Amino acid sequence: EKGGYEHFMLKEIFEQPQTIYDCLRGRLDANAGTITMAGIQQYADQLIKANRIVMIACGTSWHAGLVAEYIFEELCRINVEVEYASEFRYRNPVINEGDVIIAISQSGETADTLVAIETAKAKGAIILGVVNVVGSSIARASHGGAYTHAGPEIGVASTKAFTAQLAVLTMMALKIAHIKGSISEERYRLLLKEMEEVPEKVAIALKQNDHIKQLADKYKDARDFLYLGRGYNFPVALEGALKLKEISYIHAEGYPAAEMKHGPIALVDENLPVVFVATKDAYHEKVVSNMQEIKARKGKVISVITEGDTTSTELSLDTMVIPETDEILAPMINVVPLQLLAYYIGVAKGLDVDKPRNLAKSVTVE
Ligand code: F6R
Repeated sequence: EKGGYEHFMLKEIFEQPQTIYDCLRGRLDANAGTITMAGIQQYADQLIKANRIVMIACGTSWHAGLVAEYIFEELCRINVEVEYASEFRYRNPVINEGDVIIAISQSGETADTLVAIETAKAKGAIILGVVNVVGSSIARASHGGAYTHAGPEIGVASTKAFTAQLAVLTMMALKIAHIKGSISEERYRLLLKEMEEVPEKVAIALKQNDHIKQLADKYKDARDFLYLGRGYNFPVALEGALKLKEISYIHAEGYPAAEMKHGPIALVDENLPVVFVATKDAYHEKVVSNMQEIKARKGKVISVITEGDTTSTELSLDTMVIPETDEILAPMINVVPLQLLAYYIGVAKGLDVDKPRNLAKSVTVE
């Protein structure tokens, strides 16, 4: 049932080219320039007129919401807020008519997310679910939405569900932006074409497997890790750190690369691995100067970089190399080496990576 892989987590990491492909199939047609999503189309008017979109989720799904915030604001020019379900539900949140809520959940059973959307629904919000498990409670409580179609995720740490969430949320943003007219036809067409190439690029990223396994042996004894990124890659840094914590029990923190100067930089010394998500995008030069700051303080710079980026290579002790794509789509590819790094560090430490201590696959109690 593990398909020849040693653990479900590794199997699910390697399934991602297929799961992303499945998620796009029947929906995205780059040649025709169309995105078909019936459960979104139905609410297109409300989305276009929305005063704001609120993403509600927990854990890894919350990270997908953060990436989506950057994408929706850029492409759709709609104000987006991203909320931890547990905080949102208890603080008597302001919900106005015309607010659209997007609930993101792999299991569709996370108690905090479910109650949060039920509360918002009672106050008149429109709820769209981005859910993996068909027929789950959150799917049923939503007015509309789109399934992620990633198939069953058995490993407790979420991997393929995350990239499928990103694929669905990106298609939603593209669809809304196109109907609204807030994206140029040229950029829309280009992003659709690039999107179709993501499964293949994820497959290329997976070829770093053996290299990352070696990195894991080299860094497995670190006490702490710092993960840094900016823009679309900031949530990827958070996700990389969460994966490492869950699977290897090493303390890790994700931070916006520029914000590090305001505190965490005090942690940097010759023992601290600092993982930069530093692929080529509009922020790249800025990220490179953040790398220099870490290197100057003797931190061990490890970076996820775009093929051919010699500047970042020179600044790094080790690199994980990724094929180039549009910055909006990069998180789906960039997270893959970080999943592998966490996995192999957990394995190197002899831990039960499919069932980390204290964690449950779905958190149905608050
Ligand atoms: C992380 C992880 C958790 C879940 C969170 C939300 O690897 O698995 O952080 O992402 O519990 O779960 P869902 O998406 O099922 O609502």
